[in-house]
Amino acid sequence: MRRAGDEVVLVARRKDRLNQLAAELGKAHVIAADLAKPKAPAELLKEIRSRDLWVRTLINNAGFGLRGRFDTLPLDRQLEMIDLNIRSLTNLAFVVLDDMRANGGGAILNVASTAAFQPGPNMAVYFATKAYVLSFTEALHEEWKDRGIKVSALCPGPTRTEFGDVAGIKALGSFDRLAMDAGRW
Ligand SMILES: NC(=O)c1ccc[n+]([C@@H]2O[C@H](COP(=O)([O-])OP(=O)(O)OC[C@H]3O[C@@H](n4cnc5c(N)ncnc54)[C@H](OP(=O)(O)O)[C@@H]3O)[C@@H](O)[C@H]2O)c1
Repeated sequence: MRRAGDEVVLVARRKDRLNQLAAELGKAHVIAADLAKPKAPAELLKEIRSRDLWVRTLINNAGFGLRGRFDTLPLDRQLEMIDLNIRSLTNLAFVVLDDMRANGGGAILNVASTAAFQPGPNMAVYFATKAYVLSFTEALHEEWKDRGIKVSALCPGPTRTEFGDVAGIKALGSFDRLAMDAGRW
């Protein structure tokens, strides 16, 4: 996906962590942004242009989950999940298409999940957001496959990252059990 000479732009909220990763990679651009904010995708593209860059490949990875019964989880956090996992991902895919069309092609990789394939009681909104990501990706893939823009979804199973802490899974001491019992979470 990455061609020789391509530059990497890392985006997330914690700039210190991005700088650390950029140092590990040797060279990368760092842009700190909260992608759950409605204007963030447009502002990000503006910042990329101001650095004289354009987008050939977009990896839509930022996302989070929350574990708990729908009525017991804070509504604002669940709506923030929709803003990040769905709204921002969709918005970013839209705004990079101009660059890809103008430059003869590109690729979008949307990070979904094995959660995309069934409803998820006790993670209802998260599973639904990932079902959206997969459905949206498969549709875009059809729309763009003959136009030089490759749109794909990545569907990982439970993986030890900071995801469990954010989702409140590790706190239950159950992430490994969930990983083994992936069909039921
Ligand atoms: N780990 C799993 O078991 C698993 C399984 C299937 C799918 N996934 C998916 O994989 C993707 C990556 O998750 P992960 O497991 O790597 O979790 P993670 O360790 O929590 O990483 C999430 C990444 O997204 C960034 N992020 C979170 N909120 C953001 C925001 N509002 N704006 C900008 N960046 C934001 C985080 O950086 P900052 O906090 O610094 O912003 C971090 O870089 C997610 O879409 C997740 O749903 C994970």
